[in-house]
Amino acid sequence: MAVVLLGVTGCVAAYKACEVLRGLQGLGLDVRVVMTAHAEQFVGPVTFEALSRHPVYVNPFERNGGAEMPHVHWATDADLLLVAPATANTLGKFAHGIADDALSTLYLATQAPVIVAPAMNVAMWQHPAVKANIEVLRARGVSVVEPGTGYLACGAIGEGRLAEVSEIVAAAAARLGAKSDLAGLMVLVTAGPTREPIDPMRFISNRSSGRMGYRLAEAARDRGAQVVLVSGPTALDAPPGIERVCVTTAEEMYREVEARAGAAQVVIMAAAVSDYRPAEASPQKLKKSAGPRRLDLVENPDILKRLGEGKGSRVLVGFAAETQDLFAQAQRKLVEKHLDLIVANDVSQPGVGFEGETNAAVLIAADGHAVEIPLCSKRVLAERIWDRVAVLLGRTTQESRA
Ligand code: CTP
Repeated sequence: MAVVLLGVTGCVAAYKACEVLRGLQGLGLDVRVVMTAHAEQFVGPVTFEALSRHPVYVNPFERNGGAEMPHVHWATDADLLLVAPATANTLGKFAHGIADDALSTLYLATQAPVIVAPAMNVAMWQHPAVKANIEVLRARGVSVVEPGTGYLACGAIGEGRLAEVSEIVAAAAARLGAKSDLAGLMVLVTAGPTREPIDPMRFISNRSSGRMGYRLAEAARDRGAQVVLVSGPTALDAPPGIERVCVTTAEEMYREVEARAGAAQVVIMAAAVSDYRPAEASPQKLKKSAGPRRLDLVENPDILKRLGEGKGSRVLVGFAAETQDLFAQAQRKLVEKHLDLIVANDVSQPGVGFEGETNAAVLIAADGHAVEIPLCSKRVLAERIWDRVAVLLGRTTQESRA
């Protein structure tokens, strides 16, 4: 039975850790709880002891007469460390290697994958110090279940509320289930926008943040694939264990994808490629004194369509971000580009598509099989997309991993 260390830290959402614990047990996992002293102010250890049927680990200096030190053997036993809720304080300690309590010591002592589900006041969540700590943790391979938006305990409305329990449990299941169903595969994922220069200072681009493609790349890595990520300009760090190729324009992306697609068994085009570019980029800054002007645009290569024309046995996945006629537009692209699967997003819906950490989609396969994925984190959607790809590759018949 896989062992999950559930870290509980001091915030109002600590009571939701009981539901997380129950959800994890529902998956057949053995859950052991590690609390911070502040968390004890919100929920007593007796509750977690009764639910988990294990002693709760709070104080690394408490003597129990035995020679065993929980931070060593719990750390080695663990298949996953999940911290839910994770306060700004604990995230800061993890990011900076401070080990002054049981949980932060376990974080340093374990080799297991780590997931954090932050919860805090909106101003704290948006503070540059917290954002920087989150980026440090991500770059180290820690998965982050992003907080949701809603009423916060402090009375404010905004981002910072602990993610839904089901989402946290799904993230844990995905990370634990992320064993090896893509092992031995070479996959290519594109992400982010492209920039088409107008002059040395200006360009045409779009609102893509690159997050969906990055989450797809990370999920494939965690499931054993060798991953190449061809990325347009984004603010995201290169995920560890993934070869990232940075490009700027659609033509550069086309060249890099063409050069690498031959070795890939799966290509997922999550990038928002500019369909057009200025016919000529001015070598000098354009001056407004020249008066009103028109921009002549020429068409960029349709990377996915060209891949589809010489497809072979490769699995090709595209995205369709639409504001109307979602299903019909996605179907058209699926056929025109010779795709195996298309991920259709209605980007007019709140929380869907560009920029945020959440998404919702319909996954439509070439045989007409369609699955609707309701609003979830981009990581969870990424897992569901790979589930479908694994089925298309004949690697599994299982659909419901996440
Ligand atoms: N795509 C691509 N090259 C382009 C444009 C799009 O590879 N020049 C890929 C995208 O990465 C995406 C899919 O094609 O996976 C659909 O992109 P989208 O912009 O939704 O569709 P278009 O083909 O541009 O069609 P339309 O402008 O009618 O929406």
